[in-house]
Amino acid sequence: MNAMNIAIIGTGNVGGALATRWSTHGHTINIGVRDRSHFKGSSLLNNAHTQAFSIQEAVERSEVVLVATPPLAIVDILPAMGDASSATSDKVFIDATNAVRHAPDPYKTVYHYLVANTSADVVKCFNTTGFENMLNPVYNGVGIDVFMAGDSAKAKNIAKTLALDAGFGDCIDFGKGDKVELLEQFALAWINLAIMQGHGRNIAFKLLRR
Ligand SMILES: NC(=O)c1ccc[n+]([C@@H]2O[C@H](COP(=O)([O-])OP(=O)(O)OC[C@H]3O[C@@H](n4cnc5c(N)ncnc54)[C@H](OP(=O)(O)O)[C@@H]3O)[C@@H](O)[C@H]2O)c1
Repeated sequence: MNAMNIAIIGTGNVGGALATRWSTHGHTINIGVRDRSHFKGSSLLNNAHTQAFSIQEAVERSEVVLVATPPLAIVDILPAMGDASSATSDKVFIDATNAVRHAPDPYKTVYHYLVANTSADVVKCFNTTGFENMLNPVYNGVGIDVFMAGDSAKAKNIAKTLALDAGFGDCIDFGKGDKVELLEQFALAWINLAIMQGHGRNIAFKLLRR
C-alpha cells in the first residue's frame, strides 16, 4: 500500500487517535490548525511523519482530508481553505463528525455540507464508535468494524483502506448518501449503549455472518 498524505482538521479525541494510527502505519500526517502555537493534540507532533500547517496548506499538501471537528466548525474551515472548489478538487474528504444535535444549517450533516459546497469526493466514516476504539480497535484479538456511507466509490475505497490501516477488522458499506443520516443515528446507538445504558465506552459493533 502506498503511503498517503492525509490532512487532519480537528486533532482532538478522534483526529488525534486516527492521526496516531495512520502515522504508525507510515502515512504522512498534515495537521491543519487555526493557531500553530496552540491547539489540542499538539503532542501529535512527536509522532512520525507528522507536521502542523495552516488549514489551507495542510489541505494543499494532502490527497485525503479528515474532518474531525464539532460539526458547526465546517462553516469556518471551508473558507480557511481558500477557494473551496479548486482547493478541494481531486481530494477525498472523510467526514467523521456527528451533527445529530447541531447541524450546519440548512444541511443535515457535514457530509451534505461538503457535497454541496466542494468538488471533493466525500464519505462519512469513523463516526460510529468512540475514539478509544479508534486508538485500539482490537477486542480479544479481533478487529472491530467501522462503517461508511456516501455516493463516491473513490472516497469509500480510500476510507476502507485507511480503516484497515488503522487496525479495524472491516469497513462495512452502510449505503449511499441517503444512508448518511442513518449512520449518524447508528453513532447515537453506540452512545446510547455506552453512556445512557451504562455499558461504558469499551464496547464495539461487529457484523457477524453465517
Ligand atoms: N469523541 C468521540 O468518541 C467521537 C466519536 C465519533 C465521532 N465524534 C465526532 O467527531 C468530532 C470531533 O470530536 P472530538 O471528541 O474529537 O472533539 P474534540 O476532542 O473536542 O476536538 C475538536 C477539535 O476540533 C478543532 N476545532 C474546533 N473548532 C474548530 C474550527 N472552527 N476550525 C478548526 N478546528 C476547529 C479543535 O481545534 P483547537 O484545538 O484549535 O480548538 C480540536 O482539535 C465531533 O463532530 C464528534 O461528534 C466523536
